[in-house]
Amino acid sequence: MHIDADNCVIENLRRVVTCDGGGPLLGANMRHLNTLEHSPCVAVEDGFVSYVGPRDRLPAALDTAPTIDGRNLVLTPGLVDCHTHPAFVRARADEFAMRLAGASYEQIAAAGGGILSSTTGVRHATDPELLAQTTRNLQRLRRHGVVAAEGKSGYGLSLEHELRQLQAIKDAGEQADMHTVRSCLAAHSLPFEFRGSDEKRAEYLQLVIQEILPAAAKGGLAQRADVFCERGVFSPAETRAVAEAAIANGLRLTVHAEQLSDTGGAAVAAEFEADSADHLEFLSGQGAEAMRQAGTAAVLLPGSTYVLKMEQWADGRGLIERGLCVALATDFNPGSSPVANPAFVMNLAVMHCGFTPEEALAAFTVNAAHALRLSTDEWGVIKPGSRAAFALWDVDHEREIPYYAGSNLCLEVITCRGWRS
Ligand code: NIG
Ligand code: FE
Repeated sequence: MHIDADNCVIENLRRVVTCDGGGPLLGANMRHLNTLEHSPCVAVEDGFVSYVGPRDRLPAALDTAPTIDGRNLVLTPGLVDCHTHPAFVRARADEFAMRLAGASYEQIAAAGGGILSSTTGVRHATDPELLAQTTRNLQRLRRHGVVAAEGKSGYGLSLEHELRQLQAIKDAGEQADMHTVRSCLAAHSLPFEFRGSDEKRAEYLQLVIQEILPAAAKGGLAQRADVFCERGVFSPAETRAVAEAAIANGLRLTVHAEQLSDTGGAAVAAEFEADSADHLEFLSGQGAEAMRQAGTAAVLLPGSTYVLKMEQWADGRGLIERGLCVALATDFNPGSSPVANPAFVMNLAVMHCGFTPEEALAAFTVNAAHALRLSTDEWGVIKPGSRAAFALWDVDHEREIPYYAGSNLCLEVITCRGWRS
């Protein structure tokens, strides 16, 4: 629901979950979501929250504002999905069937499937097709409560097609009424035409460093760079080279790290004070400590652990207790995580990564905002000055969001005119 008015009041709510603790919620604070009960209301003026509290103390000037009926339900901040790959044009259900029959993700990738199959799809799609599919993917996320999403390229793997993907994510955000943060993931896989020799491999890395990243940074098309640091993909040394180029071009950094093995990507992320290192199923204690000291957030993606049928889940409990900023994201992509439902990801985090339901919600709101370096006064929270973007849930208590596994209980995403300005 988009409210096209200068101001409005959302009333008749059972609970408002503010997630406001003055910044990312760390350690034991992650369980304290700062809720309001007994029919609170939320007022919005010019796209930003102006009041949160009891209805009878609503400032008189807002008495005549249009009202939205909260139906005695639970209002949370609009969710922030801090790791997605939405610019793909085709599902990979064929590979899903191959994996179910016993092939591994790495075997399929080595045979030219996986990321390269999505790359073929993007390269052959027209701009309108790419935009339409990317918009469709962001709309899928929005229907499940997401108002801000990070989106990665990484299925273009050439100057032209990486830029087309980033542009598609930017434009799709406009069409889906979603805020986007864009990351250039040219270092996602070695493209087919650069395989076969060390020289060609080095040539592709030079292309990424000298041409793709500078072009992606230009005009703010991308804000960040990402690297898939993994055994058989890009090494820590190659990740470091891309990170240096990213920083030199004014991009911030994030890294796909320790997903399938302890390759050392988390330490490189920490070395460059990256926004986050993501996946982390095989993160070592040393890697975690380096991240904590660098202020690098830990983004866990249990949707992909689940889809890849991995036995090792990321140690969310340990990372929370160590005091890192821990966030969750869908990793929505056509291969390892065709999962566009944050509540389901929260369920997996509770079932397998040691989160409490409250921690899972903090990880998809204020902590996810911080993982993207979005202001936690504006994003992932409900407080005066925050963005007027909310999720209304068909539940009696926020604990039920991760509990009703697999259902979409997000009844409505509410955004108000000017909220993205
Ligand atoms: O986050 N790990 C690498 N990249 C993606 C998967 C991309 C794909 O399979 O298309 C991920 O899991
Ligand atoms: Fe990913």
